[in-house]
Order: sequence, then structure tokens, then C-alpha cells
Amino acid sequence: MDKIPLHLAIILDGNGRWAKKKGLPRNAGHAAGARVLEDMCEVVWNKGIRYLTVYAFSTENWNRPADEVSALMKLLRDYMRNSVKRAMKNNMRVRVIGDKTGLDSDLQESIASLEEATSQNTGLTFQIALNYGGRDEIVRAVRKLASEHDIDYMRGLTDKELGDALDTADIPDPDLLIRTCGEERISNFLLWQLAYSEFYFADCAWPDFTEAELDRALESYGSRTRRFGGLVKGEE
Ligand code: IPE
Ligand code: IPE
Ligand code: MG
Repeated sequence: MDKIPLHLAIILDGNGRWAKKKGLPRNAGHAAGARVLEDMCEVVWNKGIRYLTVYAFSTENWNRPADEVSALMKLLRDYMRNSVKRAMKNNMRVRVIGDKTGLDSDLQESIASLEEATSQNTGLTFQIALNYGGRDEIVRAVRKLASEHDIDYMRGLTDKELGDALDTADIPDPDLLIRTCGEERISNFLLWQLAYSEFYFADCAWPDFTEAELDRALESYGSRTRRFGGLVKGEE
């Protein structure tokens, strides 16, 4: 495979449907999905991908039933507490994007310590979108800029300045977005950053996502021509 995305973003979808089909509670789907994700971090790095961003919990997912929200928070808490060893072994840098202030304080602390412990690692940059919404991210960035600068600065605000105030500052935009389980929508993920990304929709539910599925997505990506609004050589 010649063209590999530098940055892959994934909307991990279908955990609930996967569990239901097996006669299991939805939360069993989330647990299975979390295990697949840990392995996928190693698989994507070995393909040559350098940034992986996954949608783990949206600003709208608080509308799920309380027991599902707490099961998801428990999985995230366990991940933040228990994954440092594996992250260090794989030289992986972990970052969380989203509104962390909306999370319980012990979870915020575990996130901060995992981010800190892995901040100097030079392997995969693994971004977890947690209490994340694309609209919320843009609104938070604008509010932050407005609180730090005067009205003249805000009137002349540039694309680059706003981009640098987002949670993803310093991270290149995703080249490829994959969404699993048949749904073909963004659901408020990385609205700004996906401006020129390629999209790939996989039918399988996230807990069934395998290296072979990833290879299919990468093959499709490799066959596409990205134009960024211009023309490529030979098209002029
Ligand atoms: C994705 O699976 C995980 C989260 C949104 C947290 P879902 O829970 O959305 O599973 P489906 O879409 O209901 O099957
Ligand atoms: C998007 O999936 C959020 C995450 C994967 C974390 P949802 O399952 O919440 O999205 P909708 O409701 O189907 O659009
Ligand atoms: Mg879903």
C-alpha cells in the first residue's frame, strides 16, 4: 500500500447493536469495543499511521440512560488508570480532547496523569474524544480567545488563529475518517478538522472491526485523489 493516512479518525459505532444481536446488555458491547480499541492502537501504528483520534463519548451521549453513562465512565476511568504501562511500552502519547471540566474530578486527575506520563513519547499520538462535540469545541475556542484578546483581534480573527485555539492545536487534520456500523453521519465529531478528510463507512459494528477491515479502508483511501479544492497534476 503506497498512500497511508498520517492521521486516522474513527467514530467507534455499533457497540450497543453488537451486544443486542448477541443477546447481551449494551454495556457488554462497550467493554468489547474498548478491548478492540486497545489492540487497534498497535495495529494502526504498524501500518504507518502516526495519529489516531477516536470518538469515545460525545457531548450528546449524556442523554443515554444513567446506567449506560456510568458504565462508559467506568470503562474510561479504568483505561486512564490502567493503560500507562502499555502506553509506555508502545511509546504512545495519549491526549484527551473535549470539555474535561464536565467530567468527575477523579477522572480529570487520571487523565492529567496519563497525559503527563506519556507526553514525551514519540510513537503513536492517541487522542480520545471524551465529552467532545465539534460545535462545543469551536464555541469554547471562541470564548477563550475573546477572554484573552481585545475586540480588534477578534474582528480580524484568522482561520489559523481559531484552529490553534481548538483542542487539536498542533495536530494535523485527519486524512481519513472511518465510521463503523453503517451509519453515514458525523454526529458532531471534529467538524472543523474534517473539512477535507476522506470518509469511509464500514458495515461491521466496532467490536467486530479487525485488521482486515482496516486494510479495506486503507486500500480505499489509497485509491482516492485528494484535490483540496484545486486540481491535481494531469487534470489542468
Ligand atoms: C458507540 O456505540 C459507543 C458510544 C457512542 C459511546 P453505540 O453505543 O452508539 O452503539 P449503537 O450505535 O447504539 O449500536
Ligand atoms: C457518536 O455515536 C458518538 C460516539 C461514537 C462516541 P452515536 O451513536 O452517539 O451517534 P448517533 O446518535 O447515532 O448519531
Ligand atoms: Mg451509536
